[in-house]
Amino acid sequence: MEGRLIIPSSGLPDAKSSPIADSSVLQIWGGHRLQGHVKISGAKNSALVIMAGALLCSGECRIRNVPLLADVTRLGQILSALGVRLTQTGEILDIDAREIKTSKAPYELVTQLRASFFAIGPMLARLGVAQMPLPGGCAIGARPVDLHVRGLQAMGAEVQIEHGICNAYVPGNNRRLKGAKIYLDTPSVGATETLMMAATLADGETIIENAAREPEVVDLANFCIAMGAKIEGAGTSTITIVGVPQLHSTEYSIIPDRIEAGTFLIAAAITRSELTLSPVVPEHLTPIIAKLQEIGVDIIEEAPNCLRTLSAETLRAADIETLPHPGFPTDMQAPFMALLTLAEGDSLINESVFENRLRHASELNRLGADIRVKGNVAFIRGVPILSGAPVLGTDLRASAALVLAGLAADGTTIIQGLQHLDRGYDRLDSKLQQLGARIQRVSVAKTNTEVAPQNADSQASISM
Ligand code: EPZ
Repeated sequence: MEGRLIIPSSGLPDAKSSPIADSSVLQIWGGHRLQGHVKISGAKNSALVIMAGALLCSGECRIRNVPLLADVTRLGQILSALGVRLTQTGEILDIDAREIKTSKAPYELVTQLRASFFAIGPMLARLGVAQMPLPGGCAIGARPVDLHVRGLQAMGAEVQIEHGICNAYVPGNNRRLKGAKIYLDTPSVGATETLMMAATLADGETIIENAAREPEVVDLANFCIAMGAKIEGAGTSTITIVGVPQLHSTEYSIIPDRIEAGTFLIAAAITRSELTLSPVVPEHLTPIIAKLQEIGVDIIEEAPNCLRTLSAETLRAADIETLPHPGFPTDMQAPFMALLTLAEGDSLINESVFENRLRHASELNRLGADIRVKGNVAFIRGVPILSGAPVLGTDLRASAALVLAGLAADGTTIIQGLQHLDRGYDRLDSKLQQLGARIQRVSVAKTNTEVAPQNADSQASISM
């Protein structure tokens, strides 16, 4: 049973001093088949936004199936700095946001975790005021928040951005946001979530058009509804929210992580293995399963919420274009690129969601892949084999792609940049070890292969 962790008001020790230190690397001896069953953790992109959503509650919330991630720890630090009381016992997180002491989020913490910007909507809805540092860009793109800001302004908030801080407040005596009709230029997941949360306590009705339809948006809506919010249409392009005076305590369990599940489906495919995974929500994986079947990997529903991969002798080339849900998910682009490096024929990947999310191509080429990148398009010519080498993860999903390639590569692969991996995957290396992968986390001093010096610009910054 995991120890009971009371997150002090000063927040947890910095993630660097957490057991998940970023001074280590992963060492993988490739070419080994996997076997067995892997448990899928709760969804990172639900956990983070639902933790922020708990700020809306004038009582205590118990969130179950919370993945053990550095990003969850870091967001816990930020919330506790705002005066929220958090207690984590394994995958259960108790959040008490009755007493929010300040509306000012700590600059040095927020700028390290983009997802902390999700707090601005609930803070404005609860307190009528919020000072939130801009999350800034990261390895995969500029990551603007203009849609969040414009939507909050439409709901009556005054927002000034200066010195990297987003200062927002609701003028007037009752300091309550008011319902509005909002059209999103792009179906932004974060903007949809920020505005949906803000609208739960606003005066009147809010309609969000061209809303994001991701399963994590639906998960957040269901959490808010469990607290008493009035939300309809989550999962469609038009979400309608009617504000209520306050939200009450609830218990809620987070959906399984579809991206982690997709990552393990590819781990099975790239090592020609048969694996079972659960729990999953199969309909959350439709684009992923369809693409794997096109490539030649058959997947069957072994039991309710449990999938089995059947090993594919040959992998066929395929084209991918990333799109908002229900299109192909951008978070699966890098893992699929790793798989396609070993497919027979030429594949093409068009990353249409983020402007700089193909940096893993050069690191995969270091492992013997044949990938050319032009703008947001990657041309992948399949090769018969990859060969192990020292590589660097530039962001969360890029790091996962390198792990997947290392599992298939001939020889030893050393992966730096674990701080990205540990922010978004719950114990990925130990789960792979339990499936028979020859993978271990070692401190840099102990690896028996000198880790290749990385050029400066490949030292990526924060996660997303
Ligand atoms: C969420 O990021 C996820 N993060 C991302 O997961 C995911 O890749 C992304 O949605 C798309 O599915 C979390 O949920 C914590 P967006 P988010 O707003 O909300 C542009 C991972 O690996 N945009 O849907 O930041 C933006 O630049 C991470 O788990 C604006 O122009 O994504 C991008 O091009 C990576 N203005 C596009 O929309 C805005 O105000 C989609 O971004 C907001 C976004």
